[in-house]
Amino acid sequence: MQVQPLHPVFVGPLFVGKVSGIDLSKPLTQEQAKQIEAGMDRYGVLVFHDQQITDEQQMTFSRNFGELEVSSQGEMSKPGELRLAIQMADVSNLDERNQLRTRDDAKRLGSLGNRLWHSDASFRAIPARYSLLSARVVPGTGGNTEFADMRAAHDALDAKTQAEIEDLITEHSIAFSRAELGFDAFPPEHQAKLHPVRHRLVTTHPGSGRKVLYLSAHIGTILGWPVPEARAFIRDLMEHATQPRFVYAHQWRVNDLVMWDNRATMHRVRRYADMAEIRDLRRTTTKCEGPTTEQALAAE
Ligand code: OGA
Ligand code: MN
Repeated sequence: MQVQPLHPVFVGPLFVGKVSGIDLSKPLTQEQAKQIEAGMDRYGVLVFHDQQITDEQQMTFSRNFGELEVSSQGEMSKPGELRLAIQMADVSNLDERNQLRTRDDAKRLGSLGNRLWHSDASFRAIPARYSLLSARVVPGTGGNTEFADMRAAHDALDAKTQAEIEDLITEHSIAFSRAELGFDAFPPEHQAKLHPVRHRLVTTHPGSGRKVLYLSAHIGTILGWPVPEARAFIRDLMEHATQPRFVYAHQWRVNDLVMWDNRATMHRVRRYADMAEIRDLRRTTTKCEGPTTEQALAAE
């Protein structure tokens, strides 16, 4: 008689690479920039440890991979209201005077949307390509960032579902993800940003030629579907795509820089004691080359 494990052994996600032997505070050679792009195409997430960099150095490094996006805060704030340059997304729990944000602080509540699985800027006609997140201060516990491999998630769908979703078009708006948490305090100047944009549900990742399940908390519906049916289905797909076998949890160390491809992964931040402990992470983001096909058609 034998008793054996019924499931294959889980070896852990294979879409995260660790990069060593490089100093991100120094200008990159063309060769280094190419190697990093190739690493991104293969893995989707790259981790660099011990990179003590300034905001300027982070922006300079990021510009090797495309034009920088102006952050949402940058677009919507007046001069003097921000702690950081407009190309730096302030992912901290600090206000412009470097004080911890209080419980009811509107920016704190808006940023809780990052706790939902998403792909950066999928609510924009031109979404994010790479995001680069640098850890300057990290809390003692909690606040991990989790990543999900959306190429593997697509590959693991059964053939019937793959065929069914191949040509579906989704609508994304930041209003959908914030409404999920009951947040609706958008000031009038934000209204233009709430207009839904269209993307394909299944995309092809340019650097690897692999198919991707392009999901995000910002999805509110599927074109041509009744809304409740669309949302129920998107939830099913989210649940599928975020099974532990597709997920890597990054536990931050000070001076880590993590870079991810939003066209191939989703991410979310986990809870931490944000009114007691400082967490100061700063993100730069490069843009995709242009609108996705469906958004371009919808705009015509
Ligand atoms: C982001 C984000 C997660 C985090 O910067 O895009 O979602 O760990 N942040 O704070
Ligand atoms: Mn994000």
